[in-house]
Amino acid sequence: MSHTVTIEPDGSRFAAREDETLLQAARRAGLVLPHECGWGSCSTCKVTLVAGETELLFPAAPAISPRDARTGRILACQSMARSDLTIRLSPAAPPPLAVPDREQRAELVTVEELAPEIRRFTFRTEAEAAFLPGQYAILHLAPGLRRAYSMCNLPDGETLQFISKRYPGGAGSTALAALDPGAELVLEAPFGTCTLARRPGRKLFVAGGTGISPILALVREAGRDRVDFAAPVDVIYSARRAEDLAAGDELALAVAALPGATYRAYVEEGAGVSGLSAGRATDAVAASDFDPQAAEFYVAGPPVMVAAVKAQLKEAGVPITRVHYDSFG
Ligand code: FES
Repeated sequence: MSHTVTIEPDGSRFAAREDETLLQAARRAGLVLPHECGWGSCSTCKVTLVAGETELLFPAAPAISPRDARTGRILACQSMARSDLTIRLSPAAPPPLAVPDREQRAELVTVEELAPEIRRFTFRTEAEAAFLPGQYAILHLAPGLRRAYSMCNLPDGETLQFISKRYPGGAGSTALAALDPGAELVLEAPFGTCTLARRPGRKLFVAGGTGISPILALVREAGRDRVDFAAPVDVIYSARRAEDLAAGDELALAVAALPGATYRAYVEEGAGVSGLSAGRATDAVAASDFDPQAAEFYVAGPPVMVAAVKAQLKEAGVPITRVHYDSFG
């Protein structure tokens, strides 16, 4: 069953099935509504529900606030139509963009164990898989279950690699972990704007947990292209325990290929082993020298960690335009 969704103020319309989100339905119709994370953490996709009924897929989404119920605001990435709808975009939002469909089938070809409950999944797409390092894909893991994962590999035209941790009770990570090689699914890619700006200057790349995925891709890109930032580059990787630093050796290798770059790993438990420092991502940033007005930051990890580092950088006087981030957890 499908319903008609009308967008105010420009009056464009699209059909939404009952088993897809408004964001997904709009995309199927060739319209891109404002969005960033695709899973409920960033608020970018919030729209006002002017008329009609929706069902919320993920009631505990971090971007939902108690005020939203009073003001009729809903997340387009987590809401499904249950009647014809009229929605209104924020006055500050850009109008919907018309873009080609980016949805295609992909086959899981390998699964690698990287750390306890952390695996790397390599998918081969049926058509060309074009993306920029730092971008992400949305995987359709089951009806109504879509999750965003950043690619950790460099684009090769046909494969997408994701690093994922299985969280007990986490529907998305559990569904992904249950896939065996040969499994097929639909994915949408690419999304995201956390891509490499090649301008010279001090850079800090900060990864927490499986946030290593986009950071690994960005550092690999900079190393492959011998990007000369003409200033020191710090690459920081933090996790709770040493064994949770999945693919840390690969990140260290990528850093070694980048002139002027240094790698530092931080753990909350078990520091002092193999040169690991004690602390969290915020401790690593606090221990770094940088000019707040000149340095540029790439931050990826769990939403709590990314929020803490962003708050720390804001407090230090770093303009938000110099902080590129992904907070998929
Ligand atoms: S795109 Fe919907 S909350 Fe981020």
